[in-house]
Amino acid sequence: MGTGSQVVAIAGGTGFVGGAIAREMAARGHRVVVLTHRKTAAPSGSTLEYRAADVTRPESLATALADVEALVISLAFRNSPVEAPRRGQTFELVDAAGTEALVAAAKASGVRRLIYMSGAGAAPDAPKHWFRAKWRAEEAVRGAGITYTILRPSWIYGPGDRSLNRFLGMSRWLPFVPQIGSGRQLLSPVFVVDMGALAADALITPAGENAILEVGGPETLTMDQVIRAALRVMGRRRFILHAPVVVMKVLTAPLTLLPAPPMRPSAIEFVVQSAPVDTAPLTAALPRRLTTLTGALGTYLGPGR
Ligand SMILES: NC(=O)c1ccc[n+]([C@@H]2O[C@H](COP(=O)([O-])OP(=O)(O)OC[C@H]3O[C@@H](n4cnc5c(N)ncnc54)[C@H](OP(=O)(O)O)[C@@H]3O)[C@@H](O)[C@H]2O)c1
Repeated sequence: MGTGSQVVAIAGGTGFVGGAIAREMAARGHRVVVLTHRKTAAPSGSTLEYRAADVTRPESLATALADVEALVISLAFRNSPVEAPRRGQTFELVDAAGTEALVAAAKASGVRRLIYMSGAGAAPDAPKHWFRAKWRAEEAVRGAGITYTILRPSWIYGPGDRSLNRFLGMSRWLPFVPQIGSGRQLLSPVFVVDMGALAADALITPAGENAILEVGGPETLTMDQVIRAALRVMGRRRFILHAPVVVMKVLTAPLTLLPAPPMRPSAIEFVVQSAPVDTAPLTAALPRRLTTLTGALGTYLGPGR
């Protein structure tokens, strides 16, 4: 695969991570096609092309991939990780089966390059079903006979994320930052802008071909350390209030009766898990100076922001 401009489709290009990848690919001169199952009209001012594609409706995918040379898959069902089986919003249906359908369509359409956003922990025998679903998706990518890069990020943050920003937002009117669990889970925070740059690097770097790379930022920190750093950058003094996991699981259990629960016990387990990564292979394959947590937070949470 050359280093020139390519037609790059991004499934999940309207999302937090896929959006950053789309912006970076466009900034590097690629022609970006955003695939979306919600709307096909580009937002005003956007120079990107939007095409309709619902990975749960395989018949919608062939047209969407016409002329596409490279496909980035950055899919997550609505309100992930809170599954809503009655609405078809599960890891199995979107992450696993959706990726399988997309990869099959990519193969039929002659796509020559795949980049898949997996997650740290993907494994065939993982105790958690979301990691087994990610593995199933990875298997489809690896088995397609198309040159691929699988990226397995730890935890990604930035403007527009739905984790850190949500907690920090609550601290605007609360004297504390609410946290589920001990706050001691270990993460290797990756700034979303860096994530976009790494995906774009992978597309043109031979060492990224047929590679499976765990992705983490320059530091390994607990969630509490991340929140304290964010509060420091914002100049806000708050304590962190930890809600015990068992209590949260008991409180959210009845919500699973709703068609689209706002929270459920499995999602509580998802958000409190550690996401350790070994970034040595990433550094070797896609060398890039990654932004420190404080440096990145300063670009969107600092004074005057
Ligand atoms: N955020 C993190 O910390 C993190 C860490 C590790 C791995 N990852 C991985 O990164 C990927 C993206 O995560 P994110 O945080 O960017 O999620 P997100 O903001 O929720 O974006 C998910 C995207 O999936 C698309 N989508 C949902 N259902 C679809 C369907 N049926 N057909 C086609 N597209 C569909 C949505 O687009 P439309 O609604 O417009 O169709 C949306 O753009 C996920 O695979 C996640 O596992 C994220």
